[in-house]
Amino acid sequence: MTGEGERLAELGKRRGFFLQTAAAYGGVAGFYTYGPQGAALKDNLEAAWRDRYVTREGHMEISAPDVMPEAVFEASGHLETFDDMIVECSGCGASHRADHLVEDHSDSTVADAEALPIPEVETLFSEYDVTCPDCATALTDQPIEDFNLMFETNIGPGSSSPGYLRPETAQGIFVEFPQWAEYARNQLPFGVAQIGTAYRNEISPRKSLIRVREFTQAELEHFIDPEADDPPIERVEDVTVPLYSVEHQQADDGGIQELTVREAVDEGIVADPWIAFYLGLSKGWYERVGVDMDRFRYRQHLPGELSHYAADCWDAESEIDGDWIEITGFAYRGDYDLKKHADHSDEEFTVFKQYDEPITVEQPTVDPNMGYLGPEFGGKAEAIAEELAALAARDPDAFADETVTVEVDGDAYTVPVAETDFAVEDVTESGEHIMPHIVEPSFGVGRLVYTVLAHAYEEDRVDGKKRTYLSLPPEMAPTTVGVFPLMDKDGLGERASDIASDLRGTGLTVTYDDSGAIGRRYRRQDEIGTPFCVTVDYDTVEDDTVTVRERDSTDQKRLRISELPETLTALRDGNRSFVDL
Ligand code: GLY
Repeated sequence: MTGEGERLAELGKRRGFFLQTAAAYGGVAGFYTYGPQGAALKDNLEAAWRDRYVTREGHMEISAPDVMPEAVFEASGHLETFDDMIVECSGCGASHRADHLVEDHSDSTVADAEALPIPEVETLFSEYDVTCPDCATALTDQPIEDFNLMFETNIGPGSSSPGYLRPETAQGIFVEFPQWAEYARNQLPFGVAQIGTAYRNEISPRKSLIRVREFTQAELEHFIDPEADDPPIERVEDVTVPLYSVEHQQADDGGIQELTVREAVDEGIVADPWIAFYLGLSKGWYERVGVDMDRFRYRQHLPGELSHYAADCWDAESEIDGDWIEITGFAYRGDYDLKKHADHSDEEFTVFKQYDEPITVEQPTVDPNMGYLGPEFGGKAEAIAEELAALAARDPDAFADETVTVEVDGDAYTVPVAETDFAVEDVTESGEHIMPHIVEPSFGVGRLVYTVLAHAYEEDRVDGKKRTYLSLPPEMAPTTVGVFPLMDKDGLGERASDIASDLRGTGLTVTYDDSGAIGRRYRRQDEIGTPFCVTVDYDTVEDDTVTVRERDSTDQKRLRISELPETLTALRDGNRSFVDL
């Protein structure tokens, strides 16, 4: 890790944003604990996400368990396919991600080795003379294998009931779909959201909060009728989005295209309008939480990169230390997940779609004469009757002749049509069962925390001295207001302490600090991104006013104490700006 990563790791630990878990025992790779500032920033991000993707869109939010039984992941495909490529070093025994080693050894000439089949990666191992990054042993002859990323556990004592820590929160939503559909009164489209922890037993966690083994996802599963539901694209059609399509990734001179959402859809660059809608909607949200739009793009997945469930996927990516980091996946999952759960369980994963007007349809029926089938076919009679019913539904023309033939257990049985009581009836249908498709924006909260910190990090000079500050949007800042007495004497400390507790009483997040020189106290708050500092001085005693200092500009204004709660709340919520005070 270099540059930004190192600075963030240092600041993260010193100022309480994030630190490696269990350092007292040597630390554990891929696990991080958020300190007071980091936990507050993460909470603020989650609140802003909930506000945007749940409250303002009118969706439901649920909370499912972290552990799910094996059957869920058998159905979802994670047991079979949720693998990374592992190679073990014969020299030191360390395990590595084979695709990452190829990328590193080829100096990123091979950019997306994850998408390649194992034999090709083995060939690239030889081509680039891949060695162990820990002990330099040659790895060219080592076998590369699939490694399932799920953490396995046992539900209850013994090992008869295996369970898994969820690798994505989404399955907790899909597996209860029939219930959510009922709550939505079977009316598509509807969305179900969840913010929760997911777990992946990464082979080689790296890059601080970027690749970890336990992380928070904020996921929205939007269930739509693919035949009938269009997104409200007009809400975002004029938003310009930076797109890096598959075509441009594969072209020699391809770069980012800045297009409006409408242009992206009309030109077929984003094939699905629902995905385009979410790209447009989300751009404003990233800006709101402090992602630098000069270090941001939407990149389409290459065909080999797509997850097993996705028909198309665009990632929102942020740039940190020269690398592009996925912060959100916008996937079109189609009916993959609901179909899988329907196939593996006894539940219906459909909604009943009512027609505007009932329709009349012809329905072929049979009522086989068991008095004939029984004596004629013995133990096979029931199965033959079932096959006749299935055939009538599938291919009524098969009953056009005097006899009809069905197959049971590989043997053919011929039955006189007269003994099947075949008929075609007119039936009235008021609707049909349809399986919704799923559009999924899936946000990695820890990666967003990391991005927002990296993009907010600034250095300048104030009063001739170097200053570090986090230029966080006030809504995201862990602390909104620092309150200081100029000196802790002549009653200034009591006055400042009263102001701090009054402001806390209005719901603002406030720090009181009376230790050290005032300049140092400002610097401490600047470093954790506190946007406003209130200072109580000798004028306060005379006229009930205080200074309010703004973090980025360091400008100060004088306000009455009585104005503080309303003004600071409006500043935090973006309803007023400091320059206009
Ligand atoms: N639910 C999408 C993912 O976890 O990648």
